[in-house]
Amino acid sequence: MNKKLTIEFDFIKYSTEFVIWARKKKNVPHKFNYDLMKELNGGKQMTDVWRLPAIGRWEKTCGKHPTQKPLRLLVRIILASTDEGDWILDPFSGSSTTGIAANLCGRRFAGLEQEKQFCELSKARREEINCIEKSRCLISHIEDLHNSQNCAIVHEESCEYSRLPF
Ligand SMILES: C[S@@+](CC[C@H](N)C(=O)[O-])C[C@H]1O[C@@H](n2cnc3c(N)ncnc32)[C@H](O)[C@@H]1O
Repeated sequence: MNKKLTIEFDFIKYSTEFVIWARKKKNVPHKFNYDLMKELNGGKQMTDVWRLPAIGRWEKTCGKHPTQKPLRLLVRIILASTDEGDWILDPFSGSSTTGIAANLCGRRFAGLEQEKQFCELSKARREEINCIEKSRCLISHIEDLHNSQNCAIVHEESCEYSRLPF
């Protein structure tokens, strides 16, 4: 048996990732949309273990980022912790999964990314959701979005960038 097979058959496969929920100060209240999360969890309080499928081919149609996150994950996080129209900042945005998820949820997005190729990938992904068919296709894969009917796409062009809240 080669090394790879030994590793696969001798251990329980590691299959979880952790999400860190942080806030600036202890006494600043945090946002948690309890009722919506309960609704998305079939009427039961949302738990801290989420079973979501691995990233799909349908979300890589503009190219790939080596550590691209699944849209389903970012949509869940955004719906849990923000309101419609809120600004979301991702200072290490990569292919801007956070931004695509934010816009599909009706939130506004600003991202920072140092690699030109990933900025271009982000731009292509953003342009892709301008196409109603494409955005419908993405939404059709994201159960939380069609369940919450929380999918008014936001266009930052209509916002005043000089008044970003960051
Ligand atoms: C883990 S990846 C983010 C992937 C993203 N969640 C997605 O779904 O595509 C982190 C990104 O941060 C970028 N990065 C690292 N240091 C940075 C910096 N100082 N300023 C801007 N971007 C940076 C990297 O180029 C990389 O694309």
